[in-house]
Amino acid sequence: MSFIKLLAFSSVAATFSGAYAALTRRVACSDGVNTASDEACCSWFAVRDDLQENLFSSECGQEVRESLRLTFHDGIAFSPTLGGGGADGSIITFADTELTYAANGGSGGVEDIVDLMTPFVSKWNVTPGDLIYFAGAVGTSNCPGAPRLQFFTGRANPVAAAPDNLVSQPGDSVDTILARFADAGFSSDEVIALLASHSLAATDALTSGAIGDPFDSTPRVFDSQFFVETRLTNAVDGEVRLPSDGLLARDDRTSCTWQSFIDDQDGMRSAFAAVMTKLSLVNQPSDLIDCSEVIPEPPAAPSGSGAAPYFPGTSTLSDVDAACTATAFPTLTQNAAVTSLAPVNGD
Ligand code: HEM
Repeated sequence: MSFIKLLAFSSVAATFSGAYAALTRRVACSDGVNTASDEACCSWFAVRDDLQENLFSSECGQEVRESLRLTFHDGIAFSPTLGGGGADGSIITFADTELTYAANGGSGGVEDIVDLMTPFVSKWNVTPGDLIYFAGAVGTSNCPGAPRLQFFTGRANPVAAAPDNLVSQPGDSVDTILARFADAGFSSDEVIALLASHSLAATDALTSGAIGDPFDSTPRVFDSQFFVETRLTNAVDGEVRLPSDGLLARDDRTSCTWQSFIDDQDGMRSAFAAVMTKLSLVNQPSDLIDCSEVIPEPPAAPSGSGAAPYFPGTSTLSDVDAACTATAFPTLTQNAAVTSLAPVNGD
């Protein structure tokens, strides 16, 4: 190789390694412990530890479920024609208004978590929008089988309360639900992916169920059991079924995606992670900073016997309601031990 060529090659290599170093260079955080891809991420390590210790007790419990739910009640509150700031945290700043809406306060059931989360806004000098999506991601990371959710920082303070009637309710028809989500930018497949969150759900304020009645037989594990049990004609003793979930599980527009998640838990996890990122960014600027590295890696789903999706108790294929004519209902084994469920709230 001539000297000129060698010089040219080494200067290209130097430029490349300089650019690579810039891409991978990390900031040493002032806590003396952590490094981060962007200085804006540094402050979130301490917020994470505080939430884990003082809100979630590092468990996949009630406050995690409520925090995950709050991401929906805040983020979906955006309409190109009716207004609302989307994922801006307005449900905290304008709690006096938004908690009077039927979907949120009273039998809506998100007021407790708004109350619990509000002090963290001033304690850490963060915006309520950032806090809601950060808490949702950190909390969900305590649940075995959950995907690691992304977190972006930099949302501004909300400027106004969202209008009423933007958060879907359990008595809504499929037409109404899909139209509401479409108005906020979500496809029918994305609605079903979002509802994987109900794998971790229980009642809080519903008058029809006891406080803490779970939506499926594995409310502390993020798995596809919710998609199985909502298709059954019967419910396990102690389980609550939302009318909206039952309808979406059977509707021609959504039942095949619903059913596909039963034996594709990895697909369910990645679809859920992707749509949760989208929910967290509704009506937000495109220059938010990716601080996903602060979110812990969730524990793996349990493995071994009883870990794959199953028919609970004595249920069989004959208890499955017909829906999704395009594909057969997956072949599942029976888990005879699952005959009744204890309420989970208070854990
Ligand atoms: C069609 C849309 C939806 C409807 C109608 C709906 C409705 C409900 C209702 C009625 C409850 C029980 C409330 C109570 O008893 O206090 C609930 C719980 C829950 N929802 Fe949804 N939801 C929807 C979508 C979502 C989405 C998109 C998410 C998250 C991304 C979500 C996450 C949760 C969670 C985690 C719980 C459990 C809360 C707890 O255990 O305290 N939901 N939902």
